[in-house]
Amino acid sequence: MAQQREQWGTRTGFVLAAVGSAIGLGNIWRFPYVAAENGGGAFFIPYLFALLTAGIPILILEFGLGQKYRGSAPLTFSKLNSKWEWLGWWQVLVCFFIAVYYAVIIAWAISFTFFGLTQAWGDNPSDFFFGTYLGLTGGPFELGGLQAGILIPLLLAWVVTFAALYSGVKGGIEKANKFFMPALFIIIIIIAIRGITLTGAADGLNYLFQPDFSKIWDYKIWTAAYGQIFFSLSVCFAIMIAYSSYLPKKSDVVNNAFITGFMDVGFSLLAGLAVFGILGHMAHVQGVGVAEVGKAGVGLAFVTFPAAINTLGAFAPVLGVLFFLSLTFAGLSSLISINEAAIAAFMDKFSLSRKKAVSIYIAVAAICSLVFATGAGLYILDIVDHFINNFGIVFAGLIQVILVGWFFNLKSIQEHVNAISDFSVGSWWIVCIKFITPIILGYMAIMNLIGDLK
Ligand code: PFF
Ligand code: NA
Repeated sequence: MAQQREQWGTRTGFVLAAVGSAIGLGNIWRFPYVAAENGGGAFFIPYLFALLTAGIPILILEFGLGQKYRGSAPLTFSKLNSKWEWLGWWQVLVCFFIAVYYAVIIAWAISFTFFGLTQAWGDNPSDFFFGTYLGLTGGPFELGGLQAGILIPLLLAWVVTFAALYSGVKGGIEKANKFFMPALFIIIIIIAIRGITLTGAADGLNYLFQPDFSKIWDYKIWTAAYGQIFFSLSVCFAIMIAYSSYLPKKSDVVNNAFITGFMDVGFSLLAGLAVFGILGHMAHVQGVGVAEVGKAGVGLAFVTFPAAINTLGAFAPVLGVLFFLSLTFAGLSSLISINEAAIAAFMDKFSLSRKKAVSIYIAVAAICSLVFATGAGLYILDIVDHFINNFGIVFAGLIQVILVGWFFNLKSIQEHVNAISDFSVGSWWIVCIKFITPIILGYMAIMNLIGDLK
């Protein structure tokens, strides 16, 4: 194909897109409860360790690979070794599975942005979410109840994603992130400021940040920290390779990786302040402990949080809308990236035009995501999420660092990266890629397998 590869318009454009991929649902509803469940303040030591020994080193690796070999993940891996193309396709497959359920959670967030205006969830957000909204009284595979209510927001999520991808790297992806990212930071700062100034906020923040050092020797905290960092930075997902394949020839890699990593972690901390400040307030109003209200996962954002918003009086409509809008914006910019990873791969492989690849792929993904809009949606979502998080990502990441670290000249990548970056990486980087990351991922893989076989 003689056609020239697309390019980012500006360095900021690339960084915002990478940050846009990294900051997602994982930062707003996943990070706060994972941190709180894993020792609170004690979690931050493994978490920062994971950021510096795995998150940022792999970001540097993936930025460097994409920039040097100028291809999506399958093409890049096939250029390293003709036998490795499958690894890229595996990562693309993982992306596909994530995309189809990620879109559904964004659809919920879109609906709840509107519900937030009037607190349409009422006094019993749990019944509202599972019953009224998801219509989980019906049988499996039933498109009944308000499930139909998901269809329009789901369509909206896919239309925005389609529009951004269809318009190309510079005219679509970059533009979308130039809007989403600043808006997202402004929103989360507003919520965090209101959150930490509420009565009872201190209890919430204590719960999240008070170190529990007795837990620091528990391996689970370490695997949770590494798992959170991988998911949160979107590494080992084919995404960062695809995004950096659109970098100009002479563009910084190391500095950009540090910026992306720290922006993501910084955003998670802001989200933690916002969420636990408000949960602390609710616990205070209800006269119970924060632990009691700090429930996990899907329930935190769509059940506990609406209940917490109910306790905010005059601020309820504003914060209700802003919180779900932040989920929506964070989610959309990540959803765009997950799909781009796959679309870039198909464009490279079959020499398709962007417009054709985007149209076909998004149509297929959007139709598949309808499975989650049925009565069995939540059930399937749980299974897919578990499988992807415990096996898809861990094995894709493990194989990636072993192949590139041990069966490829890693030094050549280091030299390439150092030649184009503002500042250089030393041998610590090699140690992280060759030793620390494979050991920890290998350990996680084994523990996950054992856990599942039990
Ligand atoms: N990094 C995103 C988050 O923290 O929510 C999640 C994500 C985006 C994972 C894109 C995977 C991905 F390909
Ligand atoms: Na993230």
